Amino acid sequence: MECDVRIATKANGQVEWGGARPRRIAVLGSTGSIGTQTLDIAAKNPEKLSVVALAAGHRANDVLAQARTFGVRHVAMGSEELADQAVADDLRAAVRESDAAAPAQARAASEPSVAFGARAVEDLCALPEVDVVVNALVGEAGMRASYRALKEGKVLALANKESLVVGGDLIMPLAHAADERAGHPGALMPIDSEHGAIYQCFVGERTSEVSRLWVTASGGPFRGRTRDELRAITPAQALNHPTWNMGAKITIDSSTLMNKGLEVIEAHHLFGMDYDRISVVVQPQSAIHSMVEFVDGSVKAHLGTTDMRIPIQYALSFPERWPAPVEPLDFTRIGSLEFFPPDTDTFRCLALARHAGEVGGTLPCVMNAANEVAVAAFLAERGSYLGIAACVEAVMDEHERRGVERVESLEQLESLDRWARAEAARHIS
Ligand SMILES: NC(=O)c1ccc[n+]([C@@H]2O[C@H](COP(=O)([O-])OP(=O)(O)OC[C@H]3O[C@@H](n4cnc5c(N)ncnc54)[C@H](OP(=O)(O)O)[C@@H]3O)[C@@H](O)[C@H]2O)c1
Repeated sequence: MECDVRIATKANGQVEWGGARPRRIAVLGSTGSIGTQTLDIAAKNPEKLSVVALAAGHRANDVLAQARTFGVRHVAMGSEELADQAVADDLRAAVRESDAAAPAQARAASEPSVAFGARAVEDLCALPEVDVVVNALVGEAGMRASYRALKEGKVLALANKESLVVGGDLIMPLAHAADERAGHPGALMPIDSEHGAIYQCFVGERTSEVSRLWVTASGGPFRGRTRDELRAITPAQALNHPTWNMGAKITIDSSTLMNKGLEVIEAHHLFGMDYDRISVVVQPQSAIHSMVEFVDGSVKAHLGTTDMRIPIQYALSFPERWPAPVEPLDFTRIGSLEFFPPDTDTFRCLALARHAGEVGGTLPCVMNAANEVAVAAFLAERGSYLGIAACVEAVMDEHERRGVERVESLEQLESLDRWARAEAARHIS
C-alpha cells in the first residue's frame, strides 16, 4: 500500500499509514534550528524517514553537506544570487551523485534538481516522491510553501508559525478538506511545542467538550522586569533564552512575548477556538508545553523535556509513537512547577497580537510584517528593544485607520505585507 495519509486505513479504530517504506520528507529551512533537528531525527530513524528534498536560504555549503549525507536528489536555495557561484556546481554534482546511487523507483519519479529563488523552494512541495513537507522556514516567506504543500495533497508538518498567522484563513480550509478526504485529522501536523501539546491533548476527545486552551509561556529572559529596565536591552541579552535554544527571530519574539501572541493566533486557526477561550499562562520551567481544559473541569497537560525534537518527531510519526529522541523528563529533578499571568502592560506585543487576532482579516498579516522588520532592525542594532512594540502598534494603527480587509488571496496578503514592511521601516526607533 502507498505510504500516503490520503489513503490511510483504519484498523481497530486506529489510523495507520500502511506500507513498510519510509515516509519521504522535504525539509524546508534545513539549515535552521528546526531544520537541523528534523534531520537529526531522520538520521536516527532511517527505516522510518527518508529525506528526499532540502531547501534553505543562504547557507549553501551546509545544504551541500546535508545533501551528501542523506543522498538527496532535490535542492532549492531561496537566494537567487547563489545560482552563479561555485557552490551551485557543487550542489549539482551532489544531486547527480545521489541520483546515480538512488533506486530505480526514485529515479523514475523525477529528474534530480537544483534550483534557486522563492518559487524553487515552493516547487519542492509538488514533487511526486514527497509525502510530508516539513516547513521550518522563518517568517512570512514560509506561507506559500504551506499553502502549496496542502494544495498538492501532501502532509504539512508545520513549524513556520507565520504561515497561519498571516494566511490561516486560506490555509485551514485546505487542511480540513484534506482531512475529510483522509477520514481523520492529520493533513496539518503542528511542530510548535505548544500546538503539538494541544494536538496530543485533543486525541481521543470530542472537540465540542473542550472549554479552554491554556498556552504556556516561559516568560522569556526578561520576566519580572519593568519597562524602564527594558530600555537599554541589547540583542545579545535578548538572544539569551532561559529554556529553549532556537533561531534568532523566534528568540527575540519569545523575549517580547510576540511569539506567544503568534501562537495564540496559530491556536485559534489550528483548533478552531474563539480567542476568549485561549488563555496564556507563564510556566517558567517550560516543562508543561500547554494544556486543554474540558467542560467537566478536567485539564489535560502535555509535559516533556524542553527539546524540540520531541514535537518534531511526533509530527512525523503520528499516529504512531517512536522511541524518544532525547532523554525523557526526570520528575524527581524538576523541583516545582510555577504559574503566573503574563505581564501584557510591559510586554505589549502579546496584547497587540491578541488584538490583531480578534479583529482578524488582514490585521495579523500587517502586524507580522511590521514585527519582522522591527526585529530585524533590532538585531542589526538599528532599532531599540522597546521600539519593536512601538513600531508594530504604529503600523497596525495605520492599517486599522485605512480599513482592515477580509482575506481573499495570497496575492492580497503579499501586497499588504509589502506595504506594512515599507510602513514599518518609517517607524524604526
Ligand atoms: N527553533 C525553534 O525551537 C522553534 C520552535 C517552534 C516554532 N519555530 C518556528 O519555526 C520556524 C523556523 O524557526 P527556526 O528557529 O528554525 O529558524 P532559523 O534557525 O532562523 O532557520 C530558518 C531557516 O529558514 C531558511 N530561510 C530563511 N529565509 C528563507 C528564504 N527566503 N528562502 C528559503 N529559506 C529561507 C534559513 O536558511 P539560511 O539560514 O540558509 O538562510 C534556515 O534554514 C519559525 O517560524 C519559528 O517561529 C521554531
